[in-house]
Amino acid sequence: MIGAVSSPGPHAPPPDVRARAAVAADAPAVAALLAESLGEKYRPAYGPRAPRAIEALVRAEIEGGASGYVVATSGHRVVGTAHLSTANDTGVPAWQPTLRRAVGAPRALWAGVVLSLLWHGPLAADEAYVGEVAVDPEWRRRGVATTLMTAVEDLARGRGCRVASLWVTLDNAAARALYEGRGFREVRRRRLPLGRRLFGAGGMALMHLRLDDAPQGPAGLRAAPA
Ligand SMILES: CC(C)(COP(=O)(O)OP(=O)(O)OC[C@H]1O[C@@H](n2cnc3c(N)ncnc32)[C@H](O)[C@@H]1OP(=O)(O)O)[C@@H](O)C(=O)NCCC(=O)NCCS
Repeated sequence: MIGAVSSPGPHAPPPDVRARAAVAADAPAVAALLAESLGEKYRPAYGPRAPRAIEALVRAEIEGGASGYVVATSGHRVVGTAHLSTANDTGVPAWQPTLRRAVGAPRALWAGVVLSLLWHGPLAADEAYVGEVAVDPEWRRRGVATTLMTAVEDLARGRGCRVASLWVTLDNAAARALYEGRGFREVRRRRLPLGRRLFGAGGMALMHLRLDDAPQGPAGLRAAPA
């Protein structure tokens, strides 16, 4: 199960964990993290080629000039990632052609159908959608997701958004505790069609955070390395 509840780790957040905008060179590490941590979502869509499909999509988005992906690093190692989207994003390439090139037309078509079941729908003008939150299993319970969430919330404020939103599966206790701890509140639930069979989850909760109420991080995103 994604995000099984575990007891807190013995360590304080490592001081060298930082968030920054992702660059194209991060695409393989981001894809590996997403394929592993969000396997319940991506395996039904992409099958065994999930890392390849995700890497192609991440790379295309970064190279297209969109700045939605954030990574958490410790030294040179990428230990977590998250993604932010808004209604006004530019530079996000159409994902079907990218996917077709990466995994072929039949799998791209299938993935489109499967992932449309999880789509968040159109975003409001003042809304920032947080997705793809994933932390390397070896680095969990050490504040990495907290660092990422602070960064994406600050990014959302910087883009003029007043609400951060996300959908989380109902049985993802770890993620729900993370979001509730940051002030996100459940505003709606929906059942997932075929959810148990496809994703191992029967429903999802929509959570909102009012960004003007939430505490701000100490600093904005670091610039990506040249
Ligand atoms: C959910 C996830 C992102 C949390 O990452 P993390 O770096 O371990 O989170 P943090 O260390 O910043 O934890 C912050 C708080 O979240 C809550 N939390 C995190 N993991 C938890 C767990 N396994 N059980 C219970 N609460 C948890 C706690 O309140 C924690 O604060 P505390 O450690 O002071 O008690 C990580 O477990 C993960 O990658 N899971 C798989 C992918 C996933 O489910 N993503 C979310 C999709 S919506």
